[in-house]
Amino acid sequence: MTGKDGYDLVVVSNRLPVDFTVDDEGHVDWKRSPGGLVTALEPVMQKSDGAWVGWSGAPDLEVDPFDADDMRLVPVTLSATEIERYYEGFSNDTLWPLYHDVIAPPAFHRQWWDAYRRVNQRFADAAAAQAEQGATVWVHDYQLQLVPRMLREQRPDLKIGFFNHIPFPPLELFQQLPWRRQVIDGLLGADLIGFQRAGDASNFIRAVRRLTGYTTRGPIVTVPGDEDRPSRNVRAAAFPISIDSRTFDELARTPEVQARSREIRADLGDPECMMLGVDRLDYTKGIRHRIKAYGEILQDGRIDVEHVTLVQVASPSRENVGAYQELREQVEGLVGRINGEYAEIGHAAIHYLHHSYPPEEMAALYLAADVMLVTSLRDGMNLVAKEYIAARSDDRGVLVLSEFTGAADELAGGALLVNPHDIDGMKDIIVAAANMDVREQRKRMRRLRRRVLADDVSKWSESFLGVLQAMPSRDTPRTHAPSRPTDEAPVEGEGA
Ligand code: G6P
Repeated sequence: MTGKDGYDLVVVSNRLPVDFTVDDEGHVDWKRSPGGLVTALEPVMQKSDGAWVGWSGAPDLEVDPFDADDMRLVPVTLSATEIERYYEGFSNDTLWPLYHDVIAPPAFHRQWWDAYRRVNQRFADAAAAQAEQGATVWVHDYQLQLVPRMLREQRPDLKIGFFNHIPFPPLELFQQLPWRRQVIDGLLGADLIGFQRAGDASNFIRAVRRLTGYTTRGPIVTVPGDEDRPSRNVRAAAFPISIDSRTFDELARTPEVQARSREIRADLGDPECMMLGVDRLDYTKGIRHRIKAYGEILQDGRIDVEHVTLVQVASPSRENVGAYQELREQVEGLVGRINGEYAEIGHAAIHYLHHSYPPEEMAALYLAADVMLVTSLRDGMNLVAKEYIAARSDDRGVLVLSEFTGAADELAGGALLVNPHDIDGMKDIIVAAANMDVREQRKRMRRLRRRVLADDVSKWSESFLGVLQAMPSRDTPRTHAPSRPTDEAPVEGEGA
């Protein structure tokens, strides 16, 4: 930043794109964390003088803003109690289950809500302090839904975008939230609200109509003004996110990754068919359903452990939240039972790995896997499905994909779609995937790769920021006639 008071582009997300470590003497160090969002935004940030506001990931860690790779990183401090109430509580034990079809029951606690409001205000204040006059601020995800309005109240000069990385629930579920109106008002502080799927955008528009009575026309909501402010138009549309497909494709072509993938297969005893599941250990991912189906296929004798094996990577996640602890026990109990029942010496039925791995190891696992199982009960997008495809430059492998992922909207043409609640249906599809002939695999994988390599994450961020920056920068004039109330759904697939 030179000769200016602030940054032209400010990204706000719960976590900063770096991991911090504190040594015994209290010295703080950091290293880049390889997330999709940072890959997508780094080039835009570097071009446009950008700052990133987010939490360090540790309790009570006070770190001054610093520069990393041409970006200004601005850490927000959270106390241990705030982590418990805002992050583990309201974000991940209220909103997360509520927005994922109440697969687990959401807990509603007023103290958690108070902490959520306070922490959102802190993020908004930090973003307001970084942004240049007329700058663009892009706020991310369900942890920060109140930030757009809090920001607009302080800084009406800003262009404000919000992107929801997870599903937006149907009104019938959303209205359980005691603070539903405040959340809607918070989001409507933005100029543009992005969702993964057109269906999420229509759920949001319907919630706005029913809970606020504001006028909507297709994807546009008109937020009425008051004595001080004119009315404004807010747009809600779908911008399906992707991965850095080219880089992932190149990574999977490197001799090291190729060799590692052969080594993985050899270590597994060179099975005829290796199946793979890769998930955060989260109840939305349908891991139990998948393992149950797999166990029944073994029981039915349709596959056997001498020829087929399942590798399940379940990376640790949100381990202080009760529902995640219960899930871990259930999954590990199930894996233990199935291995106890069906494994033979030298042939595990399931290789269960409760770890996270670097991208090189992930690429090698994807390349080694004949069948990739993505069986989420509800999932905003599911980037694992896209990574599997990007890794398969050999045009081999079969993707079994849940209908309940955002990715299914785009990948239905080449994946085998499943309903993970229908265990018999899923068993048949898993067996069909294991037996699919190479010509059919190639035909499908080519189709999938065309899609994933074309729609990469930089296209996603350019498309969102392009629409946001093209929106009129001033509030609509007060004389603007309110548009006619309508029941229309927003325009499908708008934006990307
Ligand atoms: C999902 C959410 C992200 C979140 C990530 C990891 O993808 O959409 O906002 O960062 O899960 O979860 P965590 O709670 O570890 O940040």
